[in-house]
Amino acid sequence: MTTSDRPGIVYLVGAGPGDPELLTVKAHRLLGSCDALVYDSLVPREVLDLVPESCERHFVGKRRGHHSVPQPSTNAVLVELSARHACVVRLKGGDPFLFGRGGEEAAHLVKHGVRVEVVPGVTAGIAAPAYAGIPVTHRRAGSSVTFVTGHEEIDKRRPSVNWRSLASASDGLVIYMGLHNLPRIADELMAGGLRPETPVAVIQQGTVAGQRCLQAPLTEIAERVRVEQFASPSIVVVGDVVNEQVTACAPQPAAVTMPIPF
Ligand SMILES: C[S@@+](CC[C@H](N)C(=O)[O-])C[C@H]1O[C@@H](n2cnc3c(N)ncnc32)[C@H](O)[C@@H]1O
Repeated sequence: MTTSDRPGIVYLVGAGPGDPELLTVKAHRLLGSCDALVYDSLVPREVLDLVPESCERHFVGKRRGHHSVPQPSTNAVLVELSARHACVVRLKGGDPFLFGRGGEEAAHLVKHGVRVEVVPGVTAGIAAPAYAGIPVTHRRAGSSVTFVTGHEEIDKRRPSVNWRSLASASDGLVIYMGLHNLPRIADELMAGGLRPETPVAVIQQGTVAGQRCLQAPLTEIAERVRVEQFASPSIVVVGDVVNEQVTACAPQPAAVTMPIPF
């Protein structure tokens, strides 16, 4: 089948960080009219409820005690659905192109002659700190910010994140999936020259019920996370911007719960 023969289009849609009010207008419209939905873990039920009753739904995320659906299977589901439906929504937490494998899925679909369009979403790395009143840049405290994963692919032979270099290259760091490796990350950042007292914030379940925020100096953060049992999904913000927190501007988290994948 060529692109022009295929009836369907797949929209790679960002669901935002959890609060349904942070969905974009375009995401909201597409969810309300799609024929098929493929979604993963970090999407609250209230967002899934926006799709029509008749919509064919496929869950491809991770659930407690289960592995996530392998990426090739998800790719295959998307290609198959696009042959049967006019409008397929592939819904991803936050923004689809930020640590969401959206780029891989887009390339796969194009390779198989499927029309595809990305719909950017509000990423957790900006929204979760904002819901704690923390700006990720600040004229005084942070002229640069780096979005970085704390959990590179296990099978990646040479890790590409050089934490020591990042310590001096970027005023602020926003770390996704960083809790498990936080002790090592903190050590590497200090070895790279970050002050032990550099402020760090961890925001768990940002923008939804259950949101909580912890702050501690870099040298103590890993131990505090362990003692206070912070868990995924969490965003870690490292840098002086954490001291620029304005709690009075922080929105109330939405009264919805996020399914926790593990
Ligand atoms: C696979 S990444 C997906 C990121 C997503 N594409 C985005 O733009 O936000 C999943 C990680 O995002 C972060 N995350 C997603 N939603 C979050 C939330 N509501 N609060 C805190 N962290 C969140 C966590 O670090 C989580 O482990």
